[in-house]
Amino acid sequence: MKVRQPGFDFSAIKPHWAPVKEFAQSYNAFSTVPAHIEPFLVKVMMRVKDALGDEHQALREDIEIFNKQEVQHCKQHVAFNKMLYACGYAGMQDVEKGYRDDYARFLASKSLRFNVAYCEGFEAMGSAAGQVFFEELKEYLDGADESAVNLWKWHLAEEFEHREVCFQAYKALYGKGVFAYLYRVWAFIYAAKHIGTHTARVAAYLNSVDRQGLSAEEVQASEAREKALKAKIRKASRERLLRVLSPSYDPGKMIPSPGMAELLARYS
Ligand SMILES: [Fe+2]
Ligand SMILES: [Fe+2]
Repeated sequence: MKVRQPGFDFSAIKPHWAPVKEFAQSYNAFSTVPAHIEPFLVKVMMRVKDALGDEHQALREDIEIFNKQEVQHCKQHVAFNKMLYACGYAGMQDVEKGYRDDYARFLASKSLRFNVAYCEGFEAMGSAAGQVFFEELKEYLDGADESAVNLWKWHLAEEFEHREVCFQAYKALYGKGVFAYLYRVWAFIYAAKHIGTHTARVAAYLNSVDRQGLSAEEVQASEAREKALKAKIRKASRERLLRVLSPSYDPGKMIPSPGMAELLARYS
């Protein structure tokens, strides 16, 4: 694990950066997640470090790198999202507000156990999303703008690289008993629902802007493309996320997708 600082240039990129624009808008909606969740992750993991005290030295060092990686992800996605605001989608910030406020509320009122388990839920989604992006989306990524594709590849490959950190932190603080397992699974489902509801709202907004002024046939075709790509991502994700529900789930044992190491070496 290491910190990388890729110098992406989003000055020439367009919101419809992939040939299937509904696909681009779907990932544009996902791009609002790191802008808000990653500052939350960093704050939670700083609390974890305090709670661990002087124990678990290796995990404490991993948390340092984890946090620095998340800060870089957040920075790049915020820059990307500013491009979206400037290109006619400024209204998405209204949708983001409630989601951002949720994290402030979690930090102020939820237990550390909840926050760590929620973070682990998100990280489990992140490593699965990495495998999906690297292995399943060729048909959507062919012909897409390289800077957007590389933003996602770099981010998701690092998500895969640090996939174990929150899991180990949760285990170090709360053990491996039945309650710890059940709570982890409950928090994963909570996080998946919370994040999924938010990204669906942003995607609905982005697509509604795009569909203004389209004919009924064009709207229908756009909805069909959206439905097909959602089905594809959902199926690929579901297969990978089911393992999170297992008592023997261990993200450390997951195998990186072909191309992840090569991609990371490019920014190292
Ligand atoms: Fe990240
Ligand atoms: Fe992460």
